[in-house]
Amino acid sequence: MNHTATVLVLALGASDWGPITKTLTNRYSYRFIVAKSASEARNALQSAQIELAVSEESADSSEGMNFLLNLRTSNPDILRIYVAPLATAVSADTAAKAAIYQFLHEPLYPDQLGLVLMRALEAQELARRHRLLAREFKVQQGPLSANDHASTLFRRPESQRFEKLVYASDRMAQVCNLAAQAAPTSLPIVIEGETGTGKELLARAIHYNSDRRASPLLVQNCGGISDEMLQSELFGHKRGAFTGAVADRLGLFRAADGGTVFLDEISEVSPSFQVSLLRFLQEGEVKPVGSDTVMHCDVRIIAASNRPLKELVAKREFRQDLYFRLKGFDLEMPPLRERSEDIEPLAEFFVGKHAEATGRKILGISADALSKLSACDFPGNVRELENEIRRMVALAKDGEFITTRNLSPTILAASNLAKVHEETVMILPTGVTLKEHFEHLERRIVLKTLLTHRWNQSRAAAALGLSRVGLVNKIKRYNLLRSDQGVGNGTNWR
Ligand SMILES: Nc1ncnc2c1ncn2[C@@H]1O[C@H](COP(=O)(O)OP(=O)(O)O)[C@@H](O)[C@H]1O
Ligand SMILES: [Mg+2]
Repeated sequence: MNHTATVLVLALGASDWGPITKTLTNRYSYRFIVAKSASEARNALQSAQIELAVSEESADSSEGMNFLLNLRTSNPDILRIYVAPLATAVSADTAAKAAIYQFLHEPLYPDQLGLVLMRALEAQELARRHRLLAREFKVQQGPLSANDHASTLFRRPESQRFEKLVYASDRMAQVCNLAAQAAPTSLPIVIEGETGTGKELLARAIHYNSDRRASPLLVQNCGGISDEMLQSELFGHKRGAFTGAVADRLGLFRAADGGTVFLDEISEVSPSFQVSLLRFLQEGEVKPVGSDTVMHCDVRIIAASNRPLKELVAKREFRQDLYFRLKGFDLEMPPLRERSEDIEPLAEFFVGKHAEATGRKILGISADALSKLSACDFPGNVRELENEIRRMVALAKDGEFITTRNLSPTILAASNLAKVHEETVMILPTGVTLKEHFEHLERRIVLKTLLTHRWNQSRAAAALGLSRVGLVNKIKRYNLLRSDQGVGNGTNWR
C-alpha cells in the first residue's frame, strides 16, 4: 500500500469526502487523512508526514481559513488549498495572507480537485529542487571556512522515516517495520521503552497507518491520576455520579469510537482499573460511572510503559491476563545510547525543525558538534537531544553553522567522559607488562568513576564495589587529583 503523497482534508463543509477520496486514491495513489475538526487536523500534523492540506469551509464560520492561516506559520512547507462554500466570495487579501496555492468552490468535482492536487504537488517538488540547488550554489561561492565545509548539510545522511520518526539504526528499522505490519491490524499494542525514546510518536505513526486514521486518536496518561478520575475519563460518567459530575461525560473510549486510544504509563493503574480495562478489551464494553447501561465501542488500544511490564507481572503488580491481552504486538523502543547512529540524523532533523519554527537562517551543524553529540549517553533519550538542539539553535547566529561552541557544558563534559572511557579500552601500548597495563586500566576506571559521580567518594566506592577506605587507598596510590584537567592527562606509565 505505497502512497505517492499524503493529503490532509479538514472537512467542515458539505462535501461527501468518502467517494471523492476513493476516486483520487485509486487514480493517483494519494493517501487521504480526513479530519472533522481543526484539533483533529492538528493532531494529524504532529503525527503523519503530510504534503498537502485541503481545508473545506463550513457555511457559517471561518474556521477553515483560520486553520490555513495558522498552518502557514506552523508548517510552511505544506501546500494549502481552500474550498469555499457555494456562492461565498473569497477575498484576495485573505487568500494572500494564508498564501494558499488555489481556492475552489463547492460543489467539488473529483476530476477538477485531482488536477489541482497534482499540479500543486508538481509545483512543490520544483520549488524543493530549486531550493536545494540554490543553497548548493551559495555554499560553493560563500565565505565559509574549510572546517565548516565538513558539515553534513549536503551529504544527506542515510536516514529513514516512518511518518515523523527519523532514524538510521537497524534496531529502529526493525521496530518500525514491525509497527508498519502491526498498524493495519486492529490488535492492541504494547510499546515499552525509557522515557523520551519516541513511544508516543510511534503510537501516532501506527494510528495514521491504520484504517482508523479517519477516526480520532486520543491520548490518556494513566500516571499520577486517581482511579476514579481515570475511570470517568475513559469510560465516562452520568451526571450526578459523584460530587462535581455536573453533566454527562462521554469518556475517551466512546469519543474515539472507530479510532485509537493511547494509554501512556499503563504500569501505573490500580488493580481494580486493570479489571475494567481487561473487560473492555475482551468485550468492548463501556459502562459509564454511575450508569447501569452497558455500551459498546470499537477502539484500538496502544499502551506504553517505561517500566518493564514482564517484571511487574512476575512481581504480581500487573495482571498477567491483561498483559497478554494487551500485547497483540510487543514493540520495544531502544534507548538512544544503544543506537548512536541515530544521533546525527536526529540532530540534523531537529536543527531544521527548530530553525524553521523560530524563523532562523542557520546553515547546519558542524561535523565536530555532531560527533561530540554522538558520543553522549542521553539518559533523557531523544527528548534530551531535542532540547539540547533547541538551545543550540537559539544560541547560534543567523547565516552560521552550529558548532561545538554552542554545546551545553553538560554535553561537553559527557562527551569528554566518553572519550576517557574509549581510551581505557583502546590504547594498548607495546613494551608494557601485564601488571603495568592492568594498573593503567585500573587507574583510568577509578578516575572515570570518580568523575561520573563528581568525586562523591561514597557513591563512587559503591559503584566500584569497593569500601570507602579501599577507594581512598586507590586514590592515594594512583595519585589521583580532583581537577578539571585530570581528565585528559592521566597517563602515567612509569
Ligand atoms: N525517532 C524520532 N524522530 C523524530 N523525533 C523524535 C523521535 N523520537 C522521539 N522524537 C521526539 O522526541 C520527543 C519525545 O518523544 P515521545 O514520543 O514523547 O517519547 P516518549 O513517549 O517515549 O516519552 C518528542 O518531541 C518527539 O517528537
Ligand atoms: Mg511519553
